Amino acid sequence: LFSEKKKSLEGKRFLVTAGATIEPIDPVRYISNHSSGKMGYAIAEALVQRGAEVTLVSGRTALDKPEGVERVDVLSAEEMYEACVERFQQMDGAVMCAAVADYTPAVVADEKLKKSDSDMSIALKRTKDIAAALGAQKGSRVLVGFAMETQNERENAQSKLQRKNFDFIVLNSLRKEGAGFRGDTNIVSLIDSREKVDLPLMSKSDVAEHIVDKIESFL
Ligand code: C5P
Repeated sequence: LFSEKKKSLEGKRFLVTAGATIEPIDPVRYISNHSSGKMGYAIAEALVQRGAEVTLVSGRTALDKPEGVERVDVLSAEEMYEACVERFQQMDGAVMCAAVADYTPAVVADEKLKKSDSDMSIALKRTKDIAAALGAQKGSRVLVGFAMETQNERENAQSKLQRKNFDFIVLNSLRKEGAGFRGDTNIVSLIDSREKVDLPLMSKSDVAEHIVDKIESFL
């Protein structure tokens, strides 16, 4: 079956971000999130199967490098930003699938922080928005984003589409069984400036095929 698949993306180059960023607090502690990286890795695989060259900028995941993909491992949002901005100009498109921390510790302690009897707090500063940075220099490239909203899903997705200059957004339905971070299935809607298409529950690799089909329609 594989060999029958059309190599419709031969000669095209894509950047895909995936996984969770790790924001260090001190040498042994960090702030992160539950992203497994599965959705981004499935998209990287689907692109490669259609003949594309894929650079996967990956935060923390437990996944093996998909065959045929160039993987760049990063930890923090800052490192992911640098890795993406450096490469985007050479690409035909990018899929921003990573769960990037919105905040990072304002200072990283050189030594392991000591506990005391009192409570403590950690000052956080904003991270850079990688997707928005790429959106600002997008030109005719295809740019795809993800959104995970718990309220006003559609309005928030539409404003994100414009703010970050995405061609379309993959909206995760967090509230439904079988959707979201850790599992092997997902329920998503694909939203562009004209329409919202709701896909039923399916495997992340089938979701990836739908996303790549839509990417092709924007090339
Ligand atoms: O603003 P929000 O985090 O909801 O946007 C989600 C989209 O933006 C995802 O595609 C995510 O990968 C991307 N993003 C990014 N850099 C950030 C925050 C989000 O690339 N710092």
